[in-house]
Amino acid sequence: MTTPIIFDTDPGVDDAQAIAIALAHPDIELLGLTTTFGNVEVATATYNALLLSELAGQSIPVAQGAAAPMSKPKSPPPAHIHGANGLGNIDLPPVKGQPQPVSAGQFIVDTVNARPGEVTLVAVAPLGNLAAALQIDPSIVDKVKRVVVMGGSIREGGNVTPVAEANLFNDPHAGARVLTAGWPLTMVGLDATHRCVLDPAAMARIAEAQGELGKVLAGSYEFYKAFYQQALGFDGCCPHDSCALAWLMKPELFTTQRGHLNVVTEGHAEGQTIFAPEGRPFITERWSTTPLAEVCLDADGAAVVDWIVETLS
Ligand code: RIB
Ligand code: CA
Repeated sequence: MTTPIIFDTDPGVDDAQAIAIALAHPDIELLGLTTTFGNVEVATATYNALLLSELAGQSIPVAQGAAAPMSKPKSPPPAHIHGANGLGNIDLPPVKGQPQPVSAGQFIVDTVNARPGEVTLVAVAPLGNLAAALQIDPSIVDKVKRVVVMGGSIREGGNVTPVAEANLFNDPHAGARVLTAGWPLTMVGLDATHRCVLDPAAMARIAEAQGELGKVLAGSYEFYKAFYQQALGFDGCCPHDSCALAWLMKPELFTTQRGHLNVVTEGHAEGQTIFAPEGRPFITERWSTTPLAEVCLDADGAAVVDWIVETLS
C-alpha cells in the first residue's frame, strides 16, 4: 500500500536528502513539494525543489509558499550551515520546470480535498504553509490522514537558541497554530533527530547509487558536515528531515508519547515547544488544554540511518 504525501520543505541540505527519499521510496507517493523560506529564501527553495526532482528524472508539482514569518521579522538565511544556495554552494544547473500557479497553502487545501482521509502532510521547515492552508480551509483538520512535523524539541534543548529548534524558532506563530490545530499530528524533533548521524561512509553509498542527484547530495553534505564538526564535534550530519519520513514509514524505530503541545511565541524562549504528557497533573491545567498530539522522545539512530541508506542505495 502506498502512502500519499505532500512534502513541505526549505531545501536545505538535509531537506535534499529527505526529498531524495520521498522520490525513491517505492511505497511513498509524492503528490507535491511545497516550499517556504527558512534555510534559504523561498525562491531558492523552489528552484532547489524543482532541481532535485528533475535530477531524479521525475516531474513533481512544486508550489511556492511563505516568504517570511507570520508575525516576527525574518532572520537572514543560515548560509554558514546550508550554503548561500542551500546546497553547500556547489555549482547547480538551470531547471526546466516551473512552479504551480497556486500558492503552497492552496495546493495543500486542493490536494487534501481531492483525496479526503488519504494525504499525509510531512513538514520539515517553518510552518507558514500549513498555517496558511488551515486559514484557507479549516475543514482540512478532519481530512488529512496525519501531519508529521520535523521540528521542536522536548528534552534535548534547542539548536538555534538554548531552547528553540530552527523550524519553530523561524515562525513560532505559525508553529503554534499547526501544533495545536487538533489534527492527527506527530512531532519528530531534536530528541529523535540528534540520535541519528549520517557518516561519510553512509553518504558514499548514497552518492554511488543516486546518479546526478547523488552528486548534489554528496557535494552539499561536505559543506553541511563542517557545521556539525564545529557545533557538535562529530564527523557527519544529523539527517533531521529524513527522520520525519523514517517515522512515517518505520515508526517502530522511534519512542513516542502522547500529550499536549504548546509553542512559546514571544520573548527569550520564542520557538520553544512545551510538552505536557497526557494525564499528568501540573499545578494548573494551563499546559494541558491543547489537543492531544504525539511526540518522538527517542530514536534508534543506527537503524534510522540504515533505513535511509537502504532507501537510497
Ligand atoms: O532543526 C533542523 C531543521 O532546521 C531542519 O528542517 C533543517 O533543514 C533546518 O531547517
Ligand atoms: Ca528543513
